[in-house]
Amino acid sequence: MDINPIRGMKDLYGLEFRKFQYVVDKSVYVASKYGYQCIETPIVENTGVFQRSLGDESDVVSKEMYSFEDKGGEQITLRPEGTAGVMRAITSNKMFVNENNPLKLMYYGQMFRYDRPQKGRYRQFHQIGLEHIGEKSPYTDVLTIELAVDIFKAIGLNNVKVLVNSLGGSQSRKVYVKALVDYFNKYENELSETSKHRLVTNPLRILDSKELNDIEICQNAPKSRNYLNKEDAEYFEKVLMLLEQCNINYEIDLNLVRGLDYYTHTTFEFRMSLGEYKDALGGGGRYDGLLKMFGGADVSGVGFALGVERLMMLLSNDVVLDSPEKVAVIPVSESEFDVAFRLVRTLLKDGIPTELITGGNSLKKRVELATKRNCGLLLIIGENEINNGTIVVTNTKVSDSEKRNTVVNMKEIIYFLKKNI
Ligand code: HAM
Repeated sequence: MDINPIRGMKDLYGLEFRKFQYVVDKSVYVASKYGYQCIETPIVENTGVFQRSLGDESDVVSKEMYSFEDKGGEQITLRPEGTAGVMRAITSNKMFVNENNPLKLMYYGQMFRYDRPQKGRYRQFHQIGLEHIGEKSPYTDVLTIELAVDIFKAIGLNNVKVLVNSLGGSQSRKVYVKALVDYFNKYENELSETSKHRLVTNPLRILDSKELNDIEICQNAPKSRNYLNKEDAEYFEKVLMLLEQCNINYEIDLNLVRGLDYYTHTTFEFRMSLGEYKDALGGGGRYDGLLKMFGGADVSGVGFALGVERLMMLLSNDVVLDSPEKVAVIPVSESEFDVAFRLVRTLLKDGIPTELITGGNSLKKRVELATKRNCGLLLIIGENEINNGTIVVTNTKVSDSEKRNTVVNMKEIIYFLKKNI
């Protein structure tokens, strides 16, 4: 039996798990201040949920989905992203949403993409995602971007840059796609096979190609911003103006088309502006008509998802150090196990973080073990302590040996610990 996890997937424990929890907790806290509520959708959906909404020709759908037939013959897929599932859930649960009654939903959990694993890229990874559905305005777009920036700041990342672009609405998009087709037709023979195919089925997706030759051809391809109609251009100008007003560190990236089909108007991505990590920490944008595609109301939405592993990579270990404010109850020998056990339960019931240390075959070993487990206060229980009704509390964080130990009356131990933790 192979005891390794599946390639591109990993176990999460110890420090890494604490980093994960930290990123999720901070994000949920910040987003809830902006009025978002949590939703959890299943990890597996019918393949159709993703296929049309993300786009048959997108890399995610055409190459990266974990899709299979279940025992009942249904085609199902491990979710590669969260937006489509949330739209499906809004419709399935008949959640009420219209222009006057927007929905603000956030989610976090595992996503699956059969991608080539490398630093910060996995086949199972976690996203934190937010969707604001029902309202369409540059104000909503910019507040959504600012919310992401606030999350970055809350977890201590102050050097995040926002890249923005606009794909325009459906009318501008038609004109733009025609310009792309005219342009790529000139290079038809030089394009990769996938791009040739996309030229017929979905020309916009040629811009996602990772083939070197395609990338070169794409460099001079028409840019969506130059094909926006008046209304869409004004919308984007307003977004830029509001970003200025909010002092958000942004840059226009005319090549930002974002790999999934559902985007319209504003698209954005978050990257570190300093340091060596170049991949996106997250990204998102506006989507008109996505909910309607799932049979819901014809309203627009905007949202983004952050890659939790990528954020964890940038966190310093200090922010998630195990709390040293933990108490260890250490019986000197087996005769004191019963008393120690009762004391541990009393302390825990009173809300004091406590561990019972019975491992190791000597007191010295147990003290070492408690220190390794990051317990700051040691309560050593021996025969004398039981007879006298007192406990010696050793504060391992105090270096002065005379002040390290305090004799405390057993009856006052909770009061003492609460004062000293
Ligand atoms: P996405 O750009 O495909 O957007 O993914 C968002 C983020 O997920 C990426 O920026 C990255 O940080 C992380 N990510 C993606 N693939 C991997 C991977 N293989 N390993 C580790 N991290 C990864 C979406 O998924 C959209 N649903 C975002 C959205 C929400 N748009 C509107 N609402």
